[in-house]
Amino acid sequence: MQNPIHTLGYRLLQQTVEHENSDSNVLPQLTRRGFLLTAAALTSCSAAPPAKPEPTAPGMAAQPTPPQPVKTTANTNYSTPNVGKAPLRNPNINASSNFSSNIGTTFSRVPVNGKYIAMTFDDGPHPQNTTRLLDILRARNIKATFYVIGRSVDLYPHVLRRTVAEGHEIGNHSHTHRLLSKLSNDEVRTELSRCRDACQRAAGIQPRTLRPPYGGLLQNQREMVLNEFSYPTILWSVDPLDWKRPGPSVVTSRILRATTPGGIVLSHDLHAPTVDAMPATLDGLLERGFQFVTVSQLLAMRAEPTTAQVSASS
Ligand code: NI
Repeated sequence: MQNPIHTLGYRLLQQTVEHENSDSNVLPQLTRRGFLLTAAALTSCSAAPPAKPEPTAPGMAAQPTPPQPVKTTANTNYSTPNVGKAPLRNPNINASSNFSSNIGTTFSRVPVNGKYIAMTFDDGPHPQNTTRLLDILRARNIKATFYVIGRSVDLYPHVLRRTVAEGHEIGNHSHTHRLLSKLSNDEVRTELSRCRDACQRAAGIQPRTLRPPYGGLLQNQREMVLNEFSYPTILWSVDPLDWKRPGPSVVTSRILRATTPGGIVLSHDLHAPTVDAMPATLDGLLERGFQFVTVSQLLAMRAEPTTAQVSASS
């Protein structure tokens, strides 16, 4: 009698081939994948020696094989999107993230030699959207910078821990997302230190830059923040207005159109449609030859500015 595991494996292989004959482009990968999965199942099954001969129920051998596939709990209707095309991969970039303490108060982009950019994601961590984004980034070897809200860090410290563990940078986005330019210096200090301390508690790290909520921070506040927290204020050069939820394809096209070397791209991992836009966005940027670094790395690789650039950025 044929081993039912073998029967199932062969049937899976056959189904894979039959299903994929309809799409000749992805046939080689999928067929190979199906075969490897099947082979792995057979290997693992056959590797364990049976403790005793398989019991043979009386009369069982006479029963015909059921005509329908064996029922399982698997969602067999699921279709894996884009399985035929592996995502592009950002190269390993072992760039220093040690930028000078007197680098400047405000940056919306950084002059660099090379097609380096920084993706920034604000308003997380979010238990579903941030983790989904982390999967997307990990598949592409992309390190981003997350400007987190301290209050959300306290709610989802495990998400921050994973973000840090996977090599991303954490930035300060205040504790309660208030418009800091309306607050006193003492209130600003409280907002930033509470967010900083939440990051320290959750993941043992401290932010190195600030993105003020709504981009709102007065010049004298920026100087205070640089002096007291050593945070440069990081704005952005690309804003897809993703928080207005224009649809993933619009977010993608806006970012692809506006991103240039040294750019800092603003997006929000709080919003599911933004995360939906990221695979095509990141692949499009990789196809255009951009390389992704964190904000601190971008600052540290800042090209020697001319006198004119210094006065323009200060
Ligand atoms: Ni925000």
